[in-house]
Amino acid sequence: MSGVRRLEGIPVLVGSDAAAIAREVATRIAELVRARAAKCRRAVLGLATGSTPLGVYRELRRLHTDCGLDFGNVETFNLDEYHPVDPASEHSYHRYMREKLFDHVDVPEDRIHIPRGDLAAAQVAAHCHAYEEAIREAGGIDLQILGIGRDGHIGFNEPGSARDSRTRLVHLDAVTRADAADEFGGLEKVPRQAITMGVATIMEAREIVLIALGAHKAEVVRRAVVGPVGSAVAATFLREHSAAVMYVDPPAATELLREIRTRRDSAGDRS
Ligand code: F6R
Repeated sequence: MSGVRRLEGIPVLVGSDAAAIAREVATRIAELVRARAAKCRRAVLGLATGSTPLGVYRELRRLHTDCGLDFGNVETFNLDEYHPVDPASEHSYHRYMREKLFDHVDVPEDRIHIPRGDLAAAQVAAHCHAYEEAIREAGGIDLQILGIGRDGHIGFNEPGSARDSRTRLVHLDAVTRADAADEFGGLEKVPRQAITMGVATIMEAREIVLIALGAHKAEVVRRAVVGPVGSAVAATFLREHSAAVMYVDPPAATELLREIRTRRDSAGDRS
């Protein structure tokens, strides 16, 4: 894993490929879970869905099956869920989490938390408030896993999301809905809203790991790391976190590396 240093407040690590990054992140999670278990304490994990964390979940399942990694002391909070969506729907993040992780490891049922996409609009605000309360009662999130949207979202904190935003119902950005269209079998079938942890909720995690994979993430990785910090690209707020790190694969690193080279070249020209 080669470091690109703490460029604009966040360490960026370029892994050789997605599998190497998944192994490294899963190993960090396993270390945390075991260290907490040794002290008879819970490990509280913040989890993401989508294509990015699939390798991490695969590796966690392997560590459970082959190496006896025990999830009995783990509590989890997912970042987000579409709204409206039935938890049994093939498109729901409830179903995704069951299939990719929870059906294969031993996280206690009552310690799995995922925002509910099946509540009536009138019940959503109270649900979001209770979600924040549940995170607080668990003692806060120890380690938050994040992907990044092409519009710079973390969770579903779309462009315009405030630094102090909390768990809430949001409207999905056109880029986000377009990116989900294939999975839903057409843009018109993609929900227009979602419930997401807020930027402030995410920033309270004690440790944050953002993973970006693939050439389609290269431009947003550049903006997240060297663009102006602000709500136009929610991921830029991570640069204000003292223990956030980004893992990117080589295709996702290209635009950032190009920008670093350009800056070096122009600094060299001036000296
Ligand atoms: C999913 C989530 C989103 C995704 C992001 C990247 O729970 O919070 O922010 O992490 O949209 O999605 P993929 O990984 O599918 O490219």
